[in-house]
Amino acid sequence: MTTQRHAGEVALVTGANKGIGREIARRLAAEGMTVYLGARDDQRGRIAAQELGGDGVDVRFVQVDVTDQAQIEAAAKQVDGDFGRLDVLVNNAGIGIEWGSSADEVTVEQMRRTFEVNVFGVVAVTRAFIPLLRRSAAGRVVNLSSPLGSLSLIGDPDDEVSSVGLLAYSSSKTAVNSITQLYANALRGDITVNAVSPGFVATDLNHHRGQLSTGQGAELPVRLALDADRTTGAFLQADHRGEPAVVPW
Ligand SMILES: NC(=O)c1ccc[n+]([C@@H]2O[C@H](COP(=O)([O-])OP(=O)(O)OC[C@H]3O[C@@H](n4cnc5c(N)ncnc54)[C@H](OP(=O)(O)O)[C@@H]3O)[C@@H](O)[C@H]2O)c1
Repeated sequence: MTTQRHAGEVALVTGANKGIGREIARRLAAEGMTVYLGARDDQRGRIAAQELGGDGVDVRFVQVDVTDQAQIEAAAKQVDGDFGRLDVLVNNAGIGIEWGSSADEVTVEQMRRTFEVNVFGVVAVTRAFIPLLRRSAAGRVVNLSSPLGSLSLIGDPDDEVSSVGLLAYSSSKTAVNSITQLYANALRGDITVNAVSPGFVATDLNHHRGQLSTGQGAELPVRLALDADRTTGAFLQADHRGEPAVVPW
């Protein structure tokens, strides 16, 4: 059942073949948006788009490995050709590859691999789609982040974040937070840009150790993607009532 409140709007969600991204794509499509379901793997992406689409719900697979500049540009060209604009970009694709290692064991290679996806991928996709987002009446960018990237929490010995020690993953999300603020400043009055933590969600990323479902995790990212009040430059997570609460940078 779609409410069609956002009918006619166009969204791209990266890394949307599974996990939180898939649920975000499903919800945005249920709001009446045309959703480009970004996935790096052709088959996984097509199957997910097929499963989510149909019955008046418009979900279209687009191959986007966020580390592949040619694919990103081809995706932007496709959306431009189809609609001439993008209303919502959700930078969701992300990896964590160092579980079980302590910070002093993480290699430069692990750092590079993580930053390629979680940081440079966000910049590459955002840059490619800014011209299309500018053509929206209310363009918005939602970046998936984590309290593990909060310098305030990493530096607080009383907060459990300070004991996690994921050198590559946490620092990549710190960079995402900084990138969010810098884009929000640069695009203010035109495109909103926010960082959001989905909470600790059971997905492949954390070997299903999270306590929340993907439905719960998608709640706030979707709310920001639908954003009517034009919040920008914020870093938010859901509080115990499910309401948006500020996460310290
Ligand atoms: N789960 C949590 O508790 C949690 C907490 C805070 C933040 N987050 C963030 O939420 C986002 C989604 O995570 P998740 O938990 O849903 O993880 P997930 O289930 O592992 O899904 C990650 C998605 O990213 C895709 N991806 C990986 N590398 C990619 C690349 N180079 N190009 C395009 N897509 C790529 C994966 O595709 P493949 O299937 O092809 O690998 C998959 O679709 C991430 O940014 C993560 O950091 C998650």
